[in-house]
Amino acid sequence: MIILNLKLLNFRNYEKLELEFNPSKNIIIGPNGMGKTNIVEAIYVLAFTKSFRGSKEEVIIRNNADLTRVEGTIKEKYKNDYKVIIRNNSKRVKINNTNIDRLTDYLSNINIVLFTAEDLKLIKDTPNTRRKLINIELSQFSNDYLKILTYYNKVLKQRNSYLKTLYLNGNASLEYLSILTDQLIELGLKVHSYREDFINDINSYVRNNYLKIAGKDGLILNYKSDYTGKTKEEIKKMYEKEKDRDVVLGKTNIGVHRDDYDFCLNDFNLKDYGSEGEQKNAIISLKMAEIEIFKDKKKITPILILDDLFSELDEEKINNILEFISDDIQTFVTTTELDKVSDKLKENSKVMSVSNGTVKEEIYEK
Ligand SMILES: Nc1ncnc2c1ncn2[C@@H]1O[C@H](COP(=O)(O)OP(=O)(O)OP(=O)(O)O)[C@@H](O)[C@H]1O
Ligand SMILES: [Mg+2]
Repeated sequence: MIILNLKLLNFRNYEKLELEFNPSKNIIIGPNGMGKTNIVEAIYVLAFTKSFRGSKEEVIIRNNADLTRVEGTIKEKYKNDYKVIIRNNSKRVKINNTNIDRLTDYLSNINIVLFTAEDLKLIKDTPNTRRKLINIELSQFSNDYLKILTYYNKVLKQRNSYLKTLYLNGNASLEYLSILTDQLIELGLKVHSYREDFINDINSYVRNNYLKIAGKDGLILNYKSDYTGKTKEEIKKMYEKEKDRDVVLGKTNIGVHRDDYDFCLNDFNLKDYGSEGEQKNAIISLKMAEIEIFKDKKKITPILILDDLFSELDEEKINNILEFISDDIQTFVTTTELDKVSDKLKENSKVMSVSNGTVKEEIYEK
């Protein structure tokens, strides 16, 4: 999958911008705060209709403008034009100039593996961050997953709100709670099964990647879920047992919304025992595994975005990673220091230099 071009209107510090990309490697250089991340963020917004920089959605709209528009042509088997228009309170998406009414029909068409300096903290971060990553990846593999997860979250919200009703009104019907619980379990089991399969897929690559990157054998991801290894009946019993606590706390204490996964190196949890470097290497191995799963399972090469990794990893490591990535994967690298990029990579890349909302192509000479 390749993004051939990108057209922006009032996106962050770009009033208007049109870029064409290299089908293989693209390097975006420039000093801090010039708009490098904004470019890769726009590619991400084109795919997911929202930013990976988790703040309010409208912050991507250029100051004082009332809307932002991101357009791009994606080439897979065929070429398709994608468009995302975001206003303060609304969002519109189009494929080949036709409005797509349901967001879930738009998402999962453009596949991206994103790797930011933030990701290197994944192991130490909250379970919520780790779940988010799995959700984003799985949604790209399966449109159904996204639909089921969205439905699960809706039922969870209903159940939580009904628990509060039950707390305030002891006479409210327990039958309705039981209906919501059954729905939650049905959907939860599906989510669980998707996640379990996905983590198994990751495990068939991540160990070997870690061995290549860090020279140590034995890395695996360990999926932790309330549902693991339990039958539907056993799960029902768990909810029954937790019911009183659920009512008192006004929230559902069991379910896949609490799922998590550990990174384990030969039985040692990297969160507790891993060095900084080991943790970073494990994340890199995970990201590389994601690319391989895309290639093997979906027969698609995703677009790879590496934002600002040179600030977090040493030169040698990052150049190794970049050489490890085959030429058929379209890659975007942002950096403040072109010196850190190996000559070999520079020669095979389109280098774009960014300065305060304008971008120009640099011709790199040996
Ligand atoms: N909504 C907005 N409207 C106008 N400018 C914005 C908006 N949001 C962010 N910016 C500007 O974009 C710039 C930051 O861009 P970006 O994050 O792409 O920088 P960068 O080149 O990646 O920098 P670094 O090397 O520090 O990561 C800042 O100067 C910021 O003021
Ligand atoms: Mg940046």
